[in-house]
Amino acid sequence: MAGPDLRPVVVLGATGSIGLQTLQVADRLGMPVAGLAAGHASTAFLDLAARYPEAALAVASDGDRLPKGVGVGSDAVAALGAIPGSVVVNGIVGAAGLEPTLAGLGAGNRVALANKESLVTGGPLVLDALRTQGAELIPVDSEHSAIWQCLAGEDHRLVKRVVLTASGGPFRGMDRDGLAGVTVDQALAHPTWDMGDRITIDSATLMNKAFEVIEAHFLFGLEFDQIEVVVHPQSFVHALVEFVDGVVKAEVGPPDMRKPIQVALTYPERAPNPSSRFEFSDLTFAAPDRLAFPALDLGYAAGRLGGNAPAVLNAADEVAVSAFLEGRIPFTAITEVVASSLEAVPHQALQRLEDALDADREGRNAAAEAVAERSR
Ligand SMILES: NC(=O)c1ccc[n+]([C@@H]2O[C@H](COP(=O)([O-])OP(=O)(O)OC[C@H]3O[C@@H](n4cnc5c(N)ncnc54)[C@H](OP(=O)(O)O)[C@@H]3O)[C@@H](O)[C@H]2O)c1
Repeated sequence: MAGPDLRPVVVLGATGSIGLQTLQVADRLGMPVAGLAAGHASTAFLDLAARYPEAALAVASDGDRLPKGVGVGSDAVAALGAIPGSVVVNGIVGAAGLEPTLAGLGAGNRVALANKESLVTGGPLVLDALRTQGAELIPVDSEHSAIWQCLAGEDHRLVKRVVLTASGGPFRGMDRDGLAGVTVDQALAHPTWDMGDRITIDSATLMNKAFEVIEAHFLFGLEFDQIEVVVHPQSFVHALVEFVDGVVKAEVGPPDMRKPIQVALTYPERAPNPSSRFEFSDLTFAAPDRLAFPALDLGYAAGRLGGNAPAVLNAADEVAVSAFLEGRIPFTAITEVVASSLEAVPHQALQRLEDALDADREGRNAAAEAVAERSR
């Protein structure tokens, strides 16, 4: 049996939840680490720089503490994604991940994409960049990795629908009144996944699932009517794919991001993974409560509208989630701020990177205004 392809790995967002788990997997597989990037030169980043002395380094800002020659700024982060012949794991949080994704694909690299915001903010641009010779896009988001694996060897045109599972987050079963009083600590206590703060809050509002619906639309060329969401609190079944003949495939297993990360790194081979153990457990499935969690329908609406709307959705959510984490707005205001921002920003086509950056800026401005209004 041929061993897995051990090309160098570039880890963007190296200090985060996905980044650190990627480094664990890469170390275990013996893959060299060619590049590391983070938002700023934190102690955690400096520790990684010392642990991987061969890796090229970049931070988005605050590079003063780093040795000379380290790239500083978003261009420097994107340039790491273009290191030739590498697998680029994009674990950056937020719309800042879009340009490194485009740079990685534009250089003909494999991009292992955790940063779903790349597709939400600039889906059409990512699909264009994917036409570059050699470029590959492999989803790391567990639901999309599941769909991608179920589709291996299948004709995508014969898919009837896909079902994304959602854990339901910490507030599953609560109504809108109950949700109004939840605290930041309660919202950060995700029942099944241990992730960065932003995605954890997005999981609590179900906005994360809204992003994933848009992500699935772009990744697999599906209409929004073909993408469904079901609440599955055990997070054991990651997604299901139903074909036109009624056959349903699923990918199952305990929630552990090291599995989809490893699949994206070793594809088309598979390698042993001691961290993942399959155990049978009781599984339940239920329809999401769309009244208590309006983020889901906001996501479908923005996705169907297309153009700049998904980018505005993401940008407004980034601002609203920060405001919630800082105690400036209540939990239920997150989706209200996002909804009002979507209404405030005029709808436009999205054809070039500048369009995505404009939409991102306008979404942020509209959301900042909506937050300020609530704080008055
Ligand atoms: N965690 C999961 O289990 C999981 C699962 C599925 C998908 N995802 C997706 O993966 C992405 C990362 O999530 P996470 O949970 O790993 O987030 P996280 O723990 O908050 O980590 C985010 C990482 O991004 C870096 N970063 C922030 N701004 C940056 C910038 N402008 N340029 C370069 N790096 C920047 C951060 O660096 P600093 O430390 O310097 O700020 C940090 O290393 C998100 O898109 C999320 O939706 C995550």
